[in-house]
Amino acid sequence: MLAFCINIFSVNAQQPADAKTGLAPTPPMGWMTWNYFGTDINENIIREIADAMVANGMVKAGYDHIMIDDGWQGGRDNKNNIIPDPKKFPSGIKALADYVHSKGIKLGIYSDAAQLTCAGYTASLGFEEQDAKTFASWGIDYLKYDYCHAPSDSNTAKIRYKKMADALRNSGHPITFSICEWGGRQPWFWAAGVGGQLWRTTGDIRDSWKSMMYNLDINAKLDAFAGRGHWNDPDMLIVGLRGSKGPAGDLGGSGCNDIEYQSNMSLWCIMASPLIATNDIRNMNEEAKRILLNEEAIAVDQDALGKQGERKVADSVLNVFVKPLANGDVAIAILNRSSATQDASFDFKDLGLDGKYEIRDLWQHKIIGKKEKNWKGKVLSHETKLFRLKKMSSK
Ligand code: GLA
Repeated sequence: MLAFCINIFSVNAQQPADAKTGLAPTPPMGWMTWNYFGTDINENIIREIADAMVANGMVKAGYDHIMIDDGWQGGRDNKNNIIPDPKKFPSGIKALADYVHSKGIKLGIYSDAAQLTCAGYTASLGFEEQDAKTFASWGIDYLKYDYCHAPSDSNTAKIRYKKMADALRNSGHPITFSICEWGGRQPWFWAAGVGGQLWRTTGDIRDSWKSMMYNLDINAKLDAFAGRGHWNDPDMLIVGLRGSKGPAGDLGGSGCNDIEYQSNMSLWCIMASPLIATNDIRNMNEEAKRILLNEEAIAVDQDALGKQGERKVADSVLNVFVKPLANGDVAIAILNRSSATQDASFDFKDLGLDGKYEIRDLWQHKIIGKKEKNWKGKVLSHETKLFRLKKMSSK
């Protein structure tokens, strides 16, 4: 039996699921309920968020999912069909999906590979096929599948995630599958093989610089595993949370300044991470809007080549990431981790980039160098420069 299981997974692991499904060719984008609202969610909030995402330009910029996280469930009916909490979602999830779809947004939902979810609600173990069919009948487009209350070994995780992935594939509706076991079982080795389009590489992000750096350092080492249809997920963006209460505010999540939130966006984009906002976008300030809606940064994240940027310099003060892009340009990100402004100086050659480059600063939205072999400048404490380099002809 053991040999049989090992064989199945080593064969499947060779072929990422996107080859068959075409799902998530670029990193998923959207907004998720968890970090701000926790389980205190309802259909009115989702409708208001959908309206806000259209009005503030997020949908146009590519944030085309709303994910309902934990806390939506109301148990099972007398046929064991999973149902939403009737107080939170009195019109049902299908009506909500119809509304969200009418705005050009896809709807995601959440469950767990055990009997109960992390917050103690009804989950899907033993009901995978039935739940997948229910989700499909509601028009659900994305499932985040968590791993609380499940055994800690990797084999059980592979079996449970494959079971749900197969059920989703047979459900009759294309549903992107987000594996959420927090990196403990090294899902980068097997998650694509069992049918996931993305997998969390880390524990839950909090609204703090320390937490952002912690998740960055885990995710930055995994660039070789990401590609079209199979992405590393270092958890949601914390941009704009500003120390608000809710799960992202737990355990020292005291908020970040705007330079730090801008770094969150730059670093997630250079790592081709899912871009999933989680602040209250109905009441966003101009800075959060400017950061989340930077279309030049988003273009780096969503680039068709699907490469996660490689961290070429990883010292305790400065980090440099390099991400090749589909049209031959290269994005680079320069992060200052220290608490003081740094004078930085890099020869592009040392980053593996020969020749001369035009440098475009993707936060200033302007060209800052014409035929450069290097970049020199100041990087503020906790700032991340995000540049797009275009190779100039040698003539
Ligand atoms: C886990 C996940 C979070 C969130 C909560 C919900 O902690 O990692 O992202 O989904 O469960 O209970």
